[in-house]
Amino acid sequence: MKKGDNYINGEWREAEGGATFESRNPSRWEEVLGVFPRSGEADVRSAVSAAERAYPAWRRISRIRRGELFDNFVQLARAEHEDISRTMAQECGKAINEARADVTEGIHMAQYVFGTARMPHGDVVSSEIAEKDAFILRKPKGEVAAITPWNFPFAVPLWLLGPSLVEGNTVVFKPSEETPLVGHRLADLFHRAGFPPGVVNVVHGLGEEVGAPLVRHPGIDVVLFTGSYEVGSEIKRICAGGPYKMAACEMGGKNAIIVDEDADLNIALKACLLSAFKTTGQRCVSAGRVILHETLLEPFAERFLPLVQRIQIGDPLDKDTFMGPLINEAGLKKVQYYNDLAEQEGAEILLKGGRMEDGRLGEGWFMSPSVYILPHKPSSRVLKEEVFGPHVALIPYKTLEQAIHIYNDTEYGLSMAVITQNYRKARTVLRECEFGLGYFNLPTIGAEVHLPFGGMKKSGTGLPSASALVDAVTHRIAWTVNHSEDIEMAQGLKTEV
Ligand code: UN1
Repeated sequence: MKKGDNYINGEWREAEGGATFESRNPSRWEEVLGVFPRSGEADVRSAVSAAERAYPAWRRISRIRRGELFDNFVQLARAEHEDISRTMAQECGKAINEARADVTEGIHMAQYVFGTARMPHGDVVSSEIAEKDAFILRKPKGEVAAITPWNFPFAVPLWLLGPSLVEGNTVVFKPSEETPLVGHRLADLFHRAGFPPGVVNVVHGLGEEVGAPLVRHPGIDVVLFTGSYEVGSEIKRICAGGPYKMAACEMGGKNAIIVDEDADLNIALKACLLSAFKTTGQRCVSAGRVILHETLLEPFAERFLPLVQRIQIGDPLDKDTFMGPLINEAGLKKVQYYNDLAEQEGAEILLKGGRMEDGRLGEGWFMSPSVYILPHKPSSRVLKEEVFGPHVALIPYKTLEQAIHIYNDTEYGLSMAVITQNYRKARTVLRECEFGLGYFNLPTIGAEVHLPFGGMKKSGTGLPSASALVDAVTHRIAWTVNHSEDIEMAQGLKTEV
């Protein structure tokens, strides 16, 4: 069992009140993996003031130098890649190959910001006046709070911290209380990579006890959040009340795959399997809906069900495991609730998922997948609300127009895929569906760091993360320079005085 500390002003510290909380293994709930500080408002205050003190010097050093620290980070993370992946598989229950991909994705973000440090980061534009030069430049916003989820405990923090830091902001990072071990590994990597004290601060603890005071703290200029809509909308509400504060939130999804009658069925089956069940359905981009042309319903279901039944569920550290456990009991209960709701709403159940209690699986939060057929109804809740688990509806449609209507008939708009060999139909889908991440003959999962990551409607605030995060953590400013010996004004304004 490991003991972790907060990381404030370059030092490792316990919570001021001395309280702790445990990180447990969702595959074997009795197993405590680590003990971490259960921090409170006093720890948040110390971390924000460390970030405030570090900011002036950090923003003044060369952008390239800031980027180079990410190169150090990458060297260290690479050497510990397997060890961090194994810790992650144990702590959040995702299959080891997915944990490895998560660490790789985090490293990609660090490489990306290292590269962007030497890239242009502004524009030279024309002026109406020949003797004037005009530039569009960026300035950091100040102190950034990053509040991240457990399901991508390495990659998502880097999506948020990478662009924030390279642009010259300082950060207070609150890792998910479900994955403090991975959060601790990140703090340790930033420390050893040579980031100066106070530039990155890590405060462990619970949402209400650390996240809430952090969001409210007047020293925080920007809140970056990835997680549920409920928490994200509360953060937006708090930030709207602060004079300078803004929030960029990535929230849930009710993602879908449209399988057109011209689809290659092999591609469709694989895309649906990966989208619905990778990470045990616990990604914000997981697809809980397969919107299928009605003529494909039977042939698709006939081939899909045996594939779902063959999914290997078990120890995330076993290389053959496809699906690990749900993150905790509350996560499992939520999926159970929606499995029951599907029945109440009249679904034809093809596979009824439930808790797996036999042998070793009974020690953790393991659950088998649910698959059902349910024609679209505007009043349905199960077809509109996010489940976050191995639960997928097959929804038949007649015309493409109807498929698009069904797709859009939720309050979310994050990720979508269309499977077809007809490019005209794919283009119609691209134009008419509301999403931030679109995939053509691919699953709804698998975003890459140099693309914007975000959604519409209840899924986001319109300020995507990953590479596009730069818009949330910098001010875009105009800088206009006069080379003339007189002053000439734009818009033809007379200047005689
Ligand atoms: C998330 O689900 O919270 O696109 C992030 C993907 C990953 C990131 C998902 N690259 O599936």
